Amino acid sequence: MSDPRRVLVVEDDDALRRGVVLALRDRDLNVDPVATGDAAVARIGDPAVEPYDLVLTDLRLPGADGIAVLRAARARDDRTSVVVITAYGSVESAVEAMRTGAFDFVEKPLDLEQLELRIARALDHRALLGEVSALRAERAARRASDEIVGESRALRAATDLARRVAATRSTVLVTGETGTGKELVAGLIHRASPRRSGPLVKVNCAALPEPLLESELFGHERGAFTGADRRRVGRFEEASGGTLFLDEVGDLSAATQVKLLRVLQDQEFHRLGGSRMLRTDARIVAATHSDLAAAVRAGRFREDLFFRLDVIRIHLPPLRERPEDLVPLAHYFLHRLGDASCGSATGFSRRAIDRLRSHAWPGNIRELRNVIERAALLARGPRIGIEDVVLSHRPAQSGSAPSDARCGVAGGTLATAERQLVLEALQACGFVQKEAAGQLGISRRKLNYMIRRLGITHPSWRRNRPSEGGSWGA
Ligand SMILES: Nc1ncnc2c1ncn2[C@@H]1O[C@H](COP(=O)(O)OP(=O)(O)OP(=O)(O)O)[C@@H](O)[C@H]1O
Ligand SMILES: [Mg+2]
Repeated sequence: MSDPRRVLVVEDDDALRRGVVLALRDRDLNVDPVATGDAAVARIGDPAVEPYDLVLTDLRLPGADGIAVLRAARARDDRTSVVVITAYGSVESAVEAMRTGAFDFVEKPLDLEQLELRIARALDHRALLGEVSALRAERAARRASDEIVGESRALRAATDLARRVAATRSTVLVTGETGTGKELVAGLIHRASPRRSGPLVKVNCAALPEPLLESELFGHERGAFTGADRRRVGRFEEASGGTLFLDEVGDLSAATQVKLLRVLQDQEFHRLGGSRMLRTDARIVAATHSDLAAAVRAGRFREDLFFRLDVIRIHLPPLRERPEDLVPLAHYFLHRLGDASCGSATGFSRRAIDRLRSHAWPGNIRELRNVIERAALLARGPRIGIEDVVLSHRPAQSGSAPSDARCGVAGGTLATAERQLVLEALQACGFVQKEAAGQLGISRRKLNYMIRRLGITHPSWRRNRPSEGGSWGA
């Protein structure tokens, strides 16, 4: 703590107050004097004034007394040390103050040397508490990032940035394809922030139609619309003192974009059907899988809102652009399952890893997690084999569209679609039919039948008939 420590002195006796203030300023402390309990309580509660390191207060004061000052100080920040000044011989009131959370007490008439000693001790205590809470924050942040696995530079850069901005109140925009870990990063920002003991409230902006979403975000008064039979507190209010995670902001309607812009500008909003202005101090973390800048150019997203959201951007590249993360992630998911004691495999065969590496992962890490979970269930030995790794049949290609990319085959007849699926599976497995059947989730007999029906041939089948194909013509 290099800044001078801040002390509030609350004493109604003018001469005494001045004497104490001079003595403490001599010790390089930053001292604010006030003469009444009411003034002290107001000052302590003023959000524009940083919490004090130490409050030295007389117990008997006109208006709010020393106990009220003590309570206010501890409520604002329980690391503030409070030392009370008691009248000579009034032990009970000193005891009461200590019970209410005072760190120490001094008796009148004041011995300045004694006072300075006790204040120094109280300030040391305050510094210690500060260190403890800084250590706690660091540990919470480390634990949160432990869940974010990966060694690629891109991922490290993203999590480092997340941890650095966590301390601020700046709005963060997390971008990346589906399943790249945007929500995970939002959680890291919250847990590494001074708001971690406050709520982390999540809203998926794509999940609700416009009127419902607005009531979800801003709340509504009773009777605001048909069916609103009671007042509802919105997510902005709920997230006060914490973090509001706005997922899929790219999907907001034009009208909701205007309302959101207003909250971001003024921190003010009202419930639907209400007239009272409410304030929120929620920290906003937004996420989108779509290209918001492109949406702005296309006129689908307000530019002013975009700039309000895009204060700090954290981009998570797709898994195919950070191949170093694949194996650590695969092991992480497998071991996490191991903890949940389903499946017996604890590792992967070389070929299983090769297959994982050959895939394009359009669904990114979520898809990988699902594939590993399925493989762990299928695996019969201590290692996950290539036949346990069942992939979707999308051909490996980069830059693929994210969310609606699940249906691999579009258009054409059923037979063409079938043929394409079978061919892709065979190609992915080097035309080893047993594996292709596993990947397609059908029996080898069935695949064999389909291959003949669809007229698919491959030179290796004839050559390797006994070992590889086997079923050919069986
Ligand atoms: N680096 C990572 N380490 C460990 N788990 C991860 C990592 N990235 C993502 N995951 C896991 O993958 C899944 C998908 O992550 P998340 O929900 O954060 O993705 P998203 O980017 O929000 O996706 P969407 O756009 O579809 O909402 C979650 O189960 C998450 O825990
Ligand atoms: Mg998400």
